[in-house]
Amino acid sequence: MIFESHAHYDDEAFDGDREELLHSLSAQGVGTVINVAASVDGIESTVRLAEEYPFVYAAVGVHPDEVGEMDQGTLERMRRLAREDKVVAIGEIGLDYYWDKEKHELQKEWFRRQLDVARQEKLPFIIHSREAAADTLQVAREERVGEIGGVVHCFSYGVELAREYLNMGLYLGIGGVVTFKNARKLKEVAEYAPLSALLLETDSPYLAPVPHRGKRNDSGNLPLVAQAIGEIKGISPEEVIRVTEENGRRLFYKIDKNGK
Ligand code: NI
Repeated sequence: MIFESHAHYDDEAFDGDREELLHSLSAQGVGTVINVAASVDGIESTVRLAEEYPFVYAAVGVHPDEVGEMDQGTLERMRRLAREDKVVAIGEIGLDYYWDKEKHELQKEWFRRQLDVARQEKLPFIIHSREAAADTLQVAREERVGEIGGVVHCFSYGVELAREYLNMGLYLGIGGVVTFKNARKLKEVAEYAPLSALLLETDSPYLAPVPHRGKRNDSGNLPLVAQAIGEIKGISPEEVIRVTEENGRRLFYKIDKNGK
């Protein structure tokens, strides 16, 4: 079944129909959802969702836009939650120089400190990196993130950077953008990267694939992403779905460790 590696179902965009929507996903072929925290409050709402729905798992972390709210206590809270059965990753963490809400030095500091939690708690990380290619790569190298393992979500750079991260053993998250006509760079990356290193993701409620571009996104749209990747690679969408699920279970190993 479809492995959704990145969604934000605690987002207020789902306040009106969250329960109905989540209950509809399995009929649409979605077997697993990683709900990814983005803010300090989001850590709590993400963990609550994972407690409520058996097929939802939590990633705990604070997005670079929100690191101004972080303190040592947040980090300790993350560390404790990382030991819960349904918390399977640290994320999303990283650098965002597009919105550029927080000072770069502060973003880098919390990126590194959250990577440390992933390393110490033996959990994979989920990296968010937007218009911060050089600094993200520098931190990734210095922190030797290949030893921890993780995914660069919503991969938005070119083949050269993809090669760097693939050589570290990281996964690349690919979502609705791959269906956009103007997404030449990402289509090249999807062709270049081995299927064994890709994860399907929506980043719901954002980045809905064509023909729903601009509307609220949800994991039920992932067959459109699998279709697009399949066309690029010359394989069936079913194979894309099957292999990316294996990838997800390999990376987020706690899902199977704690049984179902
Ligand atoms: Ni996200």
